[in-house]
Amino acid sequence: MAIENVYGPEDNVFVMDHPLIQHKISLLRDKKTGTNEFRQLVEEIAMLMGYEALHDLPLEDREIETPIETCMTPMIAGKKLAIVPILRAGLGMVSGITALTPTAKIGHIGMYRNEKTHEPVEYFCKLPSPIELRTIVVLDPMLATGGSGCDAVDLIKARGGRKIKFVCIIAAPEGIKKLHERHPDVEIYIGHVDRELNENAYICPGLGDAGDRIFGTK
Ligand code: PRP
Ligand code: URA
Repeated sequence: MAIENVYGPEDNVFVMDHPLIQHKISLLRDKKTGTNEFRQLVEEIAMLMGYEALHDLPLEDREIETPIETCMTPMIAGKKLAIVPILRAGLGMVSGITALTPTAKIGHIGMYRNEKTHEPVEYFCKLPSPIELRTIVVLDPMLATGGSGCDAVDLIKARGGRKIKFVCIIAAPEGIKKLHERHPDVEIYIGHVDRELNENAYICPGLGDAGDRIFGTK
């Protein structure tokens, strides 16, 4: 697998070093990349990251009849996955993951950052049930201060969610630390770790405002 474990083999923070993911993230960063291409790239990166992040889905042998004979063959076991984008920007990643797992259920968490305090404000939460039996994949392209990610995981756990993977395209060291310290059981999959946050809590060099770039708002 083309992923590197950040804090050591026992830890739950993984950075993808696949060249396709790195190349596509570089294209995302370019301010000349327009909305249509940006959206397409987010979808493609989500699919590549999803492939890596879902490497440990449980399998069970099922009986299948081939044109030649009957055989036992491995298929994904257990309850269907729950994909949970954090609105708005996480929505851009959903189709990339559901291309891999078409039967997944989809929940939504609505959250935006207060422009002055940078604290997350929750406005919506609807999760597939029973949530406690599912592997839950939380999607958000940006992990900046980590406030939104932490609060989203709090909400999921408060509703019974247990096995949680958090997939983000770009993360700041501050956000990784906050999410990992508050929720060490959550597996964090990161496309690229950037340098730092600026005074407006934007990731540097980052890609700007992910939601605005995906939806063409400003
Ligand atoms: C962005 C992003 C994350 C959050 C990350 O959302 O999609 O949810 O900021 O920042 P944090 O780690 O400091 O909490 P934003 O608040 O811009 O909302 P939007 O996606 O609706 O535009
Ligand atoms: N949210 C974004 O969309 N971009 C950042 O750099 C930080 C938070």
